[in-house]
Amino acid sequence: MKVKGSVVFVTGANRGLGLAFAREAVARGAAKVYAGMRNPDNFNEPGIIPVKLDVNDVDSIAAAARAAPDVTLLVNNAGIAELTQEHFTEHEVEQARRFFETNYFGMIRVTNAFHHALVAGKGAIVNILSDATWKVVPVLSPYSATKAAAWSYTNNIRALLSEKNVQVVGLHVGFLDTDLAKDVDLPKTDPRDVARQAYDVVDAGGSEVLADAGTRAIKSTLSAEVPAYIDPSVV
Ligand SMILES: NC(=O)c1ccc[n+]([C@@H]2O[C@H](COP(=O)([O-])OP(=O)(O)OC[C@H]3O[C@@H](n4cnc5c(N)ncnc54)[C@H](OP(=O)(O)O)[C@@H]3O)[C@@H](O)[C@H]2O)c1
Repeated sequence: MKVKGSVVFVTGANRGLGLAFAREAVARGAAKVYAGMRNPDNFNEPGIIPVKLDVNDVDSIAAAARAAPDVTLLVNNAGIAELTQEHFTEHEVEQARRFFETNYFGMIRVTNAFHHALVAGKGAIVNILSDATWKVVPVLSPYSATKAAAWSYTNNIRALLSEKNVQVVGLHVGFLDTDLAKDVDLPKTDPRDVARQAYDVVDAGGSEVLADAGTRAIKSTLSAEVPAYIDPSVV
């Protein structure tokens, strides 16, 4: 599908990568851009319609789907992460449950609510994943598991929805210059660049975005005898 003329809904769009996706959709001539967010108070961006949405609250998701019935391009972006310092403890279990609730179940809930509109509009879904899907970083272990699960979900709904002419794109990327990675002192990709790459892939009818060199390097090892998820030093 083409981003130009589409009706876009981005979750977690008040800041970070989600806001970059919403702004880039406006720049590319989307017919309408909805920005889902937990707190729409004081959100004021030209051409972007704020919609109250908490991906962990089914009533709020249903209300958002009613408020935005014409969506043809859904960007499942909302996500949370924290470093995990205490492995092999209940703390890790608590974090994993919390991260799965937002990053995995939240993605499923929102997709379920919008999928009739997407089928009717022969639309597209972009799911924001991570290089953590394949990368071994123990301090991100529960977070990485949510992205691996969301990758699997993405691949399965692609199979289901391709029969209905709905395009499904999975986006993997390493650290971004957003609040989520503000304490990470490593090179980070500009979220605007990620949004541009993702919409290029949507426009081209593609299925996957590997948005930085590190992510492309990790992906390239997956079928090697010693892939990066067994020996991270191969990349
Ligand atoms: N930053 C990175 O290094 C990086 C790398 C790879 C992938 N990603 C992924 O990129 C996506 C966006 O992350 P970001 O870097 O832009 O992070 P961010 O700056 O922390 O923004 C996260 C966004 O998600 C929203 N959110 C969190 N929980 C929500 C919920 N229950 N319901 C609705 N919205 C919720 C936040 O809303 P509030 O303002 O209300 O908290 C915020 O808008 C995430 O899926 C993340 O996993 C990030």
